[in-house]
Amino acid sequence: MIEVAGAGKDYILNGRAVTAFDGVDLEVRRGEILSVVGPSGCGKSSLLKAIAGLEPLSRGEIRFEGRRLDGPDPRIGVVFQEARLLPWLTVRENAALAARFAAHRRPGAAGEVDDLLRRVGLEAFGDAYPSQVSGGMAQRAALARTLLQRPTAILFDEPFASLDALRRMELQIWLVRMLKEEGTAALFVTHDLDEALIMGDRIAVMTPRPGRIHRIYDAPPKDRRALEQPETLAASREFWELKQSILADLRATGGLGEAMADAHVEP
Ligand SMILES: Nc1ncnc2c1ncn2[C@@H]1O[C@H](COP(=O)(O)OP(=O)(O)OP(=O)(O)O)[C@@H](O)[C@H]1O
Ligand SMILES: [Mg+2]
Repeated sequence: MIEVAGAGKDYILNGRAVTAFDGVDLEVRRGEILSVVGPSGCGKSSLLKAIAGLEPLSRGEIRFEGRRLDGPDPRIGVVFQEARLLPWLTVRENAALAARFAAHRRPGAAGEVDDLLRRVGLEAFGDAYPSQVSGGMAQRAALARTLLQRPTAILFDEPFASLDALRRMELQIWLVRMLKEEGTAALFVTHDLDEALIMGDRIAVMTPRPGRIHRIYDAPPKDRRALEQPETLAASREFWELKQSILADLRATGGLGEAMADAHVEP
């Protein structure tokens, strides 16, 4: 559905060219969640911004449903690390703003705001301001806003990075179910290998900068029980072995930093 072919991105930083990523070929299939992991600075966010149409590529192209993309497309939603809600609007008003933008395509969007707030578990907080809700709630409000556009695909850039571990696990499972229910495809960028494995149907591993796709793995299939009890998923042999393979890749390509040094402890 989303095809990235021969993609590269150079920035000019203090008069010097920096290649963020290069030679990237990638496909996000219809309805699938593709996790992307890789060391800091390997161009994950840059790649995501290019697909979102927020930054032009230096080389290569991006196609969406067979057509070349040359800018933001309303069928592709984006969720960043911070919720980026407007502080002077309530949770409901923030979500409704997206409905207003979507209105020319879907006149019924405004009527869906409350239904979506309910689905993200924020029905009692529609009148609260962003400063009055927790980080996890703000992130769910941001997600409701994105879902109101009815995107066919959503790009996530470390959406749970600012949340504590429990909140994070709860939202991961909630999000996988939500995306699967809606049949929405996703590209999910994360630093966290467990998260990549819990979320992804496949996991792409990138090399250090200039980031390239080193390898793509199929994740172990997740049945209903696994999604209800992610801790059993994380403790399974298959999960652990896949994590070791990804760690070995990161190590072999020089991308294993301090942050991942404790990830090889056997469950
Ligand atoms: N707007 C910009 N101008 C100049 N250089 C940039 C810009 N955005 C990113 N870069 C550079 O591109 C490289 C890749 O950055 P990017 O943010 O894509 O990495 P990342 O993989 O998302 O890292 P992290 O995991 O830390 O979020 C870095 O060297 C960064 O300095
Ligand atoms: Mg980033």
